[in-house]
Amino acid sequence: MSLTINGASVTPPSDPRVSLLDLLRENLHLTGTKKGRNQGACGACTVLVDGERVLSCLTLAVQVDGRSVTTIEGLMVDGAMHPLQQAFIDHDGFQCGYCTPGQICSAVAMVDEWRRGSPSHVTGDLSSDTIDLDHDELRERMSGNLCRCGAHNGIVDAILATYVQEPAA
Ligand code: FES
Repeated sequence: MSLTINGASVTPPSDPRVSLLDLLRENLHLTGTKKGRNQGACGACTVLVDGERVLSCLTLAVQVDGRSVTTIEGLMVDGAMHPLQQAFIDHDGFQCGYCTPGQICSAVAMVDEWRRGSPSHVTGDLSSDTIDLDHDELRERMSGNLCRCGAHNGIVDAILATYVQEPAA
């Protein structure tokens, strides 16, 4: 049994009760992924599994056997920040930064969902070929990631600037 984390093969712990979050943080010391309430309510622990966003606190490590996990550390390319990481800096998308890795991993997968045409709860026209990623769509799609500092406006601006357009000044 093995899984891939940020491109490296990893053997999961023998204890099947270990969550993916604890495997990342406690066993592998990949502390970019944060533990918030540890009950699926805040999104701080969001990582990508085969490109889909998952809450690692609610995922057992053994459940991702044979799959590819990407954490915030794995989004960097050749030591350079992912464009969305830079945008979070440019648009004040974080304050304390605790929720930021989960926000960024969630947004990366969210954009793929949007590009595939997956509707959200607020999508009006389900027959349309394209969905406008406006503020309501974006906020709904990112609603599983909470920021207790209240940096949501900057987070929305950073995502829009990276994937849609530069927001109006
Ligand atoms: S720690 Fe997993 S959702 Fe909050």
